[in-house]
This record gives sequence, structure tokens and C-alpha cells, in this order.
Amino acid sequence: MGKITIAIDGYSSTGKSTVARQLAEWLGYVYVDSGAMYRAVTLYAMRKGIISEEKFDKAALIDSLPDIALEFRKNSENKAEIHLNGENVEKQIRTLEVSEYVSPIATVPEVRRKLVALQHTMGEDKGVVMDGRDIGTVVFPKAELKIFMNASARVRAERRFKELNERGDEITFNEVLENVNERDQIDTTREDSPLRKAEDAIEIDNTETNIEDQFHIILQLAQDRIAGRVK
Ligand code: CDP
Repeated sequence: MGKITIAIDGYSSTGKSTVARQLAEWLGYVYVDSGAMYRAVTLYAMRKGIISEEKFDKAALIDSLPDIALEFRKNSENKAEIHLNGENVEKQIRTLEVSEYVSPIATVPEVRRKLVALQHTMGEDKGVVMDGRDIGTVVFPKAELKIFMNASARVRAERRFKELNERGDEITFNEVLENVNERDQIDTTREDSPLRKAEDAIEIDNTETNIEDQFHIILQLAQDRIAGRVK
């Protein structure tokens, strides 16, 4: 049976990566977390002092793009983790601080061009589930299945707050809620590849759907397309 490309886009903390990972595992597909790539570039920029509370030196970021190498490697549990110049930064990229700088970094067209080129390579053989903001609109506009995920901002912030809290990060719920709203604002209004639903994407609001039910709904959509029941 032929393999398809599955694009999952949506607002921050809508559980895109959870369902993308489940689908990839079930179908034996590759999972690519494109947000992790933008986060890793952000971590690089923070470490080099390119972005901070005081400034964002876009020219310096563009100049250093050739020095940024990104790669996903599987860990012992077969989970892909992002490596920045050979260093596993999977944990470091998930902090609220990185979340606060990532959306400005993701507005830079040169950054997007570099990462989209990498994403094309990762998905060229199909059999890929990729999640992000522009996967169905820009990266794989011909993907056989496109999902657009949403949930209320409060529920999304609650989920992310719980996640960060469990990791031991010292943050407040309001900080997380503010970040969710701010990223939505920047991601939807930027000029290059703004977050928007592709015309042929299927919208799923999971404010009141649990992870298990959501997985079965999306798996069915994928299986219909893999079997050629739906074009
Ligand atoms: O926090 P969440 O898992 O929702 O976000 P993420 O998928 O890790 O993405 C972090 C940020 O990277 C987003 O808020 C966007 O600014 C940017 N991003 C993007 O511009 N395009 C993508 N394809 C993926 C992420």
C-alpha cells in the first residue's frame, strides 16, 4: 500500500505533536517535529546573545545560519530527539524562555527557507507525519491528509502549564497563558508563511476531546486516504 504525507498544523499547545507521534508510530512512518527545529535555532541565538530581552540582531542570525546544523536522532526508546551541532538539546528547547523567543525567530524568511529545505528532504520519501504551522500550506501543499488543530486558549495554556510544571520549571499559569496568546498573535500575522488553515485541511477542535478519541478520529482519516477510499 502506498505511503502518504500527513501535515498537522495548528495553534500552540493544541497537542499536535502528541497525535503526530501516535500516528507515526502506528503507521510505521517518520515523525518530524518542525517546531523543534525553530526552537533549536532559537536556543542557538539565545546562547550567542543574538536574541535577548534587550535586542534581536537579525543580521547576525542570518550570518550564522551556515553554522547551525540540525539533525533528529533516535534515543534508546526509539523517540526522535533534536540535535543542535551534535548536542542533544531536546530538553533545553522546551523551556518557557525558548517559547518566548521562538516566534520572533520564526518570522525571519532566511530561517524559514533553511528549515523548509531540510523538511523537504526529511519528507521526500513520503511516509511522514510532520507537525507545525505551515506544513499543509507551504512545506507539503500536496499532502494527502491535512489536519488543522485548535482548542480554546485557556485549555491549551492549562495543558502546557501542567507539562512544564511536571518537568519542575518554575513558571506561573499566567506566564504560560500570555505566551500562548503572544505566539498565536505573531504566528498568525507574520508576513512569511503565517499560520492559517489550508483550504483542504480538516479542522479539529480538541477542547473537549481526549487524546485517545482524537487519535482514533485522525487515524481513521489517514487510513481512508492510505487505502484510497478518500482522495
Ligand atoms: O509549543 P508548541 O508545541 O505549540 O509549538 P512548536 O510546534 O514547538 O513551535 C514553536 C514555534 O515555532 C511556533 O510558535 C512558531 O513560531 C514556530 N514554528 C513555525 O513558525 N513553523 C513551523 N512549521 C513550526 C513552528
